[in-house]
Amino acid sequence: MEYSEKVMEHFANPHNVGKLDDANAIGEIGNAKCGDIMKMYLKIENDIIVDAKFNTYGCASAIATSSIATDMIIGQPISEALKLTNKAVVEALDGLPAVKIHCSVLAEQAIKAAIADYYKRQGIDPEPIVGKIDDCEDDHCHM
Ligand code: FES
Repeated sequence: MEYSEKVMEHFANPHNVGKLDDANAIGEIGNAKCGDIMKMYLKIENDIIVDAKFNTYGCASAIATSSIATDMIIGQPISEALKLTNKAVVEALDGLPAVKIHCSVLAEQAIKAAIADYYKRQGIDPEPIVGKIDDCEDDHCHM
């Protein structure tokens, strides 16, 4: 299995790892395929994601995708973060081996779960905004 240089870089030195003490949006997602878990912490101010951190028991690909995904959403409005797909994340990493695509879904779904939590805390139903959160809605997960 071949990993791109970018994947190796983000795995060796992942960005935004840990817990965010002043997070106001927290999402946790399990990967139906491998059972790994991802926890995402976001700090949102005026609809902008000002900070993001993650913790995972996932594999190298999960760590690399979360590292780059958090980099991509920090400083972005919620609406942009919701548009971030696992495909865009995989492209930003110069690809992932096909058997590892399911790992990248963890980051995308954990970000959505955290944003859903942000709305729930305000008494707003997140489903019309965030959509349904599925641990594995991507076809690649069912390979
Ligand atoms: Fe579980 Fe990659 S094998 S996240």
